[in-house]
Amino acid sequence: MVDGPLMSPSVLNADLSRLHAEVAKISGVADMIHLDVMDNHFVPNLTFGLPVIEALIQGSSIRADCHLMIDDPDRWAPGYAAAGAYSVTFHLEAAREPQALCTAIRDAGARSGVAVKPGTGVEALDRLGEAVDMILVMTVEPGFGGQSFMGDMLDKVRQARSIADRADGDVWVQVDGGVGPETIEACAGAGANVFVAGSAVFRSDDPAKMVEHLRNLAQSAPA
Ligand code: DX5
Ligand code: ZN
Repeated sequence: MVDGPLMSPSVLNADLSRLHAEVAKISGVADMIHLDVMDNHFVPNLTFGLPVIEALIQGSSIRADCHLMIDDPDRWAPGYAAAGAYSVTFHLEAAREPQALCTAIRDAGARSGVAVKPGTGVEALDRLGEAVDMILVMTVEPGFGGQSFMGDMLDKVRQARSIADRADGDVWVQVDGGVGPETIEACAGAGANVFVAGSAVFRSDDPAKMVEHLRNLAQSAPA
């Protein structure tokens, strides 16, 4: 595993009319920026897509961690990798050929990620073999920022961590939804190493300081 926790703040609850400036607030301290793509079909909300993300990638040096909450990721996900995203995560519930899609994302130049909603197990990911670079365990129902963390997802985080450790490569476990100062230690203790925090970071007075604070909490969490 990589050394230390990786921080990936989500811009969903940032000021989207000033996206570039919002990203700049954390680009020196965060490891990635988490970009939530929603299509109003897979989830009941609509955000932004490839043209916006492409512009952001070109205008900023931070790694783009794209979380695609969309139907038909088999068709759309590799395009985000080709546009220069560092990591592209699609939902297991939406993909027709998850293993082939992971490979296509890698071939297009990004790390491959597979996300599961709270009602979906991670067992199937064991069978995806060596194609997955990151498992994203959703700790809220996907669609909106600012929801409460679902503590009963921690068992799934532990399961994801064992699957990740059984795999050959450096497989990461990401948590997303309601992650903040109150909940990040439990996530780290359960085996997550990549942390998405939206409102906790962008609704704080000092987003950069909050990223560092969260990183310290995750770092010192007992295993
Ligand atoms: C929810 C998104 C999350 C969201 C997290 O569907 O995937 O990335 O932005 O926001 P918070 O941290 O506010 O729960
Ligand atoms: Zn997300």
